Amino acid sequence: MENYILERKCRICSGENLQLVLDLGNQPPANSLLEKTQINEGELKFPLRLYWCSDCFLVQLLDIVSKEHLFQHYLYMTSASKPIVSHFEKYAKSVFDQFLKNSNNPLVIEIGSNDGSLLGEFKKLGVQILGIEPASNLAKLSNDLNIDTLNEFFSLDIAKQITESRTPSVIVANNVIGHIENLHNIMEGIKVLIGKTGVFIFEVPYLIDLIKNLEFDTIYHEHLSYFSLLPLNNLIEQFGLEIFDVQKQDVHGGSIRVFVSVENNFQINDSVKKMINDEHEFGLEKIDVYKIFSVKIGELKKDLKQVLVDLKKEGKSIFGYGAPAKGNVLLNYCDIDNSILEFIIDTTPIKQGKFTPGTHIPIVSPSNIMKKGVGGTALLLAWNYEREILEKEKESRNNGGKFVIPIPSPVIK
Ligand code: TYD
Ligand code: ZN
Repeated sequence: MENYILERKCRICSGENLQLVLDLGNQPPANSLLEKTQINEGELKFPLRLYWCSDCFLVQLLDIVSKEHLFQHYLYMTSASKPIVSHFEKYAKSVFDQFLKNSNNPLVIEIGSNDGSLLGEFKKLGVQILGIEPASNLAKLSNDLNIDTLNEFFSLDIAKQITESRTPSVIVANNVIGHIENLHNIMEGIKVLIGKTGVFIFEVPYLIDLIKNLEFDTIYHEHLSYFSLLPLNNLIEQFGLEIFDVQKQDVHGGSIRVFVSVENNFQINDSVKKMINDEHEFGLEKIDVYKIFSVKIGELKKDLKQVLVDLKKEGKSIFGYGAPAKGNVLLNYCDIDNSILEFIIDTTPIKQGKFTPGTHIPIVSPSNIMKKGVGGTALLLAWNYEREILEKEKESRNNGGKFVIPIPSPVIK
């Protein structure tokens, strides 16, 4: 098939001992929203299966949809979600205080800079910035906002070009390392950017949170790797680099922020050893954890569908709240289509007016729907923002509005 390959080797250790642990069926890419005219044209669907490497313990996809197909025009926009914007504000401030404030005219480079939200926060702190972003729509948007951005996929070549004239103090990558197919090439590039004293800081969703909270819908073709510290350590050591700190972060369903530099540049924080120990105790090195996870996902699918069907039988109308990529995985895997959800509201302007892939549900602006007095039942597809959204919709909930929270097991609130 065009745009698709099936990989046979582990992305970190090149081993071939890969066990299938979860099969989510054939799915369209989760961010491929449709225009109205495309609904009847037929969609490309690709297998969505999760594998575990029993040598280095990386959990990963081997069904690879080409990155050109997935990322050249990208609909995910960081700035559409207010909680992420405030996360970035704090993030930039803490990196500045720890690594930049005593440097002379420091430069921060971001890999996968999206719409420039995080770099914008660094800019406010008086730091020089450079973004690298493959999606042309987002790179253009960033440059229009004076966030200097190269419209490229990051690679060793790009790193070499940059360091001919500039040396970054800090390189950040948020929620992108898991999207990258050739991790070795990227790490070579990062090693060049780090030089002797630079720091690489990245955030990725954390595998233990994914497993504990049954966040199966965060598994989609864009996300090739599902990280824990065990395989990350293996990868980073292959390049003479070292993880010197790790912090848990309460974003994207539970993430880790990892700090990397060349060996012996920083004292290693106890947090690193502790997290590796926790992973060992949780059982990430044995297949049982993954088998139990898979069985629970099958049960969740049945339970969620049943809750929605029962609500429908009671005559309730149900809509979706938020149209994140993960929502499309959940809808497609659980067979929830436009006969169950009438529409989905989302604050992202470029998503409005489009339709969900596979399930063909219209996405509309929240402005007319969530106004005072509207009740109804909402399936919370953007469950990672549960706290903020339930607070924001207090008024509607006081008027009888209900939310179905889909994971880790369906609950009505
Ligand atoms: P997000 O969970 O950040 O991303 P992903 O696509 O990686 O799964 O997406 C959240 C979506 O929810 C995004 O499209 C914006 C939308 N949203 C709302 O519509 N209203 C809100 O109040 C919030 C917080 C998000
Ligand atoms: Zn491996």
